[in-house]
Amino acid sequence: MDKARLEEIAAQMMTPGKGILAADESTGTIKKRFDQINTESTEDSRRDYREMLFRADGFDEAISGVILFDETIRQNAADGTALRDLIASKGAVPGIKVDAGAKDLPGCPGEQVTEGLDGLRDRLAEYRELGAGFAKWRAVINIADGIPSYSCIRANTHALARYAALCQEAGIVPIVEPEVIMDGSHSIDVCDDVTGWALSELYQELYNQRVYLEGTVLKPNMVISGTDAPTRAGVEEVAARTVATLKRHVPSAVAGIAFLSGGQSDEEATAHLNAMNAGYDLPWGLTFSYGRALQQAALKAWQGQTENVAAAQAAFAHRARMNGLAAAGEWSEATEQAGQAAA
Ligand code: 13P
Repeated sequence: MDKARLEEIAAQMMTPGKGILAADESTGTIKKRFDQINTESTEDSRRDYREMLFRADGFDEAISGVILFDETIRQNAADGTALRDLIASKGAVPGIKVDAGAKDLPGCPGEQVTEGLDGLRDRLAEYRELGAGFAKWRAVINIADGIPSYSCIRANTHALARYAALCQEAGIVPIVEPEVIMDGSHSIDVCDDVTGWALSELYQELYNQRVYLEGTVLKPNMVISGTDAPTRAGVEEVAARTVATLKRHVPSAVAGIAFLSGGQSDEEATAHLNAMNAGYDLPWGLTFSYGRALQQAALKAWQGQTENVAAAQAAFAHRARMNGLAAAGEWSEATEQAGQAAA
């Protein structure tokens, strides 16, 4: 294992004041996003949309890495430049989603396990050739009556650790993502318990599979109230509980932590990240690895129309800058308003 390479890539991903753009929606998921703006999802429209984001002003100030889907890492921009080279030319690391999605877990109704380990060694070797510096694997942990089960937590954390070990063998930094899903009416207490449980099992499995933590990035959910909870915890409580749970369960050797947005509104995702960075002494860098919370505004502004490209790029640049500020603990309502006026 080339530990120095892994540490170097992880450090670039965790550049202070920058974070990761998750643009790795599968073909099915991006189609759903495009349906919302009445835009047909084709190889070209997906390319045009993603190229638009990568070329936006503000990208190089705030984005340290981009998670790509298999199609995109092989795709060229309209002028023939490989999209992965375009990303690298802007100082960001190209990364790749390698999991094959979450499938129903037998015997455990309402629960899923992420697949994709078969053949992964060969796929990682090819992605390394294509210039990927890191990879992503997402496990899904649902909360409902009687779930998650130990079976679900165990199967998913074991798969995450097997994936991480294979990545490191290939010289690729694994982003390990055990996502406790926000959907449901559960309280923040339940989210806190389940998140702590999942993280403690995850670090045990990573130890068992001999994963080098200094060459990993954790992508967790925040500790947050369920979407339909009768009362929802505010920004300061989410920040305090997320930091406390991470400190309890994530070793300080881990190279960094980059949150998913998980269905939070754009501004909530920014405010939560900012509150953690502004208010706490932390043993690791905390940043973003947002999909929806970075892209929603740009998609809405774009509507699949060439004449809206500048407006969509401005919307993306604004969110990227705001999250860059939050990664440094320097965001405020005032910077949000000032940035909106400028955009
Ligand atoms: P969201 O920020 O939209 O949750 O997506 C991040 C991601 O990459 C999930 O795997």
